[in-house]
Amino acid sequence: MGDAAETWARLQRGRGIPPEILAGARANPWHHDPAHFQPPDVPADTPSRRAALDLLGTGGSVLDVGCGGGDAALALAGVATEVVGVDQQADMLAVFATAAAARGLAFRTVGGRWPDVAAEAGTADVVVSHHVLHNVVDLPPFLLAMGAAARRGVVVEMLDRHPMAWLDPLWERFHGLRRPRPATTDDALAVLAELGVSPTVERWERTAPPRQDTAVVTQRLCLPPEREPEVDAALDELVRPRVAATLSWLSPR
Ligand SMILES: C[S@@+](CC[C@H](N)C(=O)[O-])C[C@H]1O[C@@H](n2cnc3c(N)ncnc32)[C@H](O)[C@@H]1O
Repeated sequence: MGDAAETWARLQRGRGIPPEILAGARANPWHHDPAHFQPPDVPADTPSRRAALDLLGTGGSVLDVGCGGGDAALALAGVATEVVGVDQQADMLAVFATAAAARGLAFRTVGGRWPDVAAEAGTADVVVSHHVLHNVVDLPPFLLAMGAAARRGVVVEMLDRHPMAWLDPLWERFHGLRRPRPATTDDALAVLAELGVSPTVERWERTAPPRQDTAVVTQRLCLPPEREPEVDAALDELVRPRVAATLSWLSPR
């Protein structure tokens, strides 16, 4: 493993929850609620969507790694000829399937962890992956498998810093836990450089995300629901970051 990949893995492990805190959790703090991942009827016109549309041209298939409800792939409806959603959460794939069917898109779902299920997912013209890299510890195999699956190119969207890092003051306040610095887009770019990939990078601001749901944050912090009022008050003092990055690269011919 290269230095940048080691650094990425170390920073990601630093996002872990110590066992003594995890023991107090009443619900899985890592679980993503599919209700929060419904793709919009009208897709946002973002640099990531434009990069994927450029790669698709007049049409082609799309593989969405860590698809959630399908925000990334389904934003390409009308141009994508088939969408394949890969996710380790079956309930996310159910949202993806319903949304793809509602748009009249040919689709397939593959349940399991990327890259373990890469062979089952197969290849596609364009591979997209939005807001998944910050969930990954061992980044090189994850990125290499995406590159290997893409006939034309890859589009990755990520927040500039780990999406939960803005809550670090709350870990300190409620648990006395000091976290190391979070992984950033630059850390991911350094890993890509070690793999010989130099993507086009566009940094941009997402439209203001809604205030983070207090119940979700309370669960993430491994606190019981009765602490929600305290968490709610603490959230008023924090600003949720909005800077995202789109990384795109062409497959070697
Ligand atoms: C933050 S959500 C993003 C969902 C969607 N891409 C979006 O932008 O709305 C991350 C998703 O990636 C999935 N995920 C994380 N790591 C994964 C892995 N190694 N393999 C498959 N799915 C993964 C999670 O289950 C979750 O649905």
